[in-house]
Amino acid sequence: MEVFVLRLGHRRDRDKRISTHVALTARAFGAKGIYFSTRDERLFSSVRDVVYRWGGDFFIRHVKWREFLKNFDGLRVHLTMYGIPLLEKIEEIKKHERILVVVGAEKMPAEVYEICDLNISIGNQPHSEVSALAVFLDRVLDRTFSIKFESAKLEVLPSERGKIVVEREGEGKS
Ligand SMILES: C[S@@+](CC[C@H](N)C(=O)[O-])C[C@H]1O[C@@H](n2cnc3c(N)ncnc32)[C@H](O)[C@@H]1O
Repeated sequence: MEVFVLRLGHRRDRDKRISTHVALTARAFGAKGIYFSTRDERLFSSVRDVVYRWGGDFFIRHVKWREFLKNFDGLRVHLTMYGIPLLEKIEEIKKHERILVVVGAEKMPAEVYEICDLNISIGNQPHSEVSALAVFLDRVLDRTFSIKFESAKLEVLPSERGKIVVEREGEGKS
């Protein structure tokens, strides 16, 4: 199964930190890449720098969201506190090979609810696009604790205390 993320409504000044976290969460929890409705080259290059150092082939790019969403060849899932609880739909979602997960920043246009195939909630309380995306990816992909990134230059060796980071420069593979 391949999961992609569409980040809607990113505001360059206000959302740069949380949008970076949305992108890094998408990568760390196993999504193939993220599309932004706003072009923000500074943010894109900071995420690409993480990919360069920590490995894998996660991508980040800008799209014209309306036509992209309408034409996406796969299941379109909008994460919203107003939607149907994930656990009621998870088996249906897992039947699909290609999934686009849509997360917002500010209030979502009404047409997003209409264009998407499913409007899914991660609990019906307001929280954040980062937490909603993390729970969705963990439940649907279940790769959080087993994911490996190819060609990583940096790798953490888990330890009880302190920080152990191994540099893999030149080895070409993690
Ligand atoms: C800070 S919220 C903004 C919500 C906005 N006030 C609205 O009415 O659409 C940003 C994003 O987090 C996600 N989100 C927040 N709470 C959620 C929940 N309980 N379930 C699913 N997604 C949620 C949604 O994707 C939402 O667009």
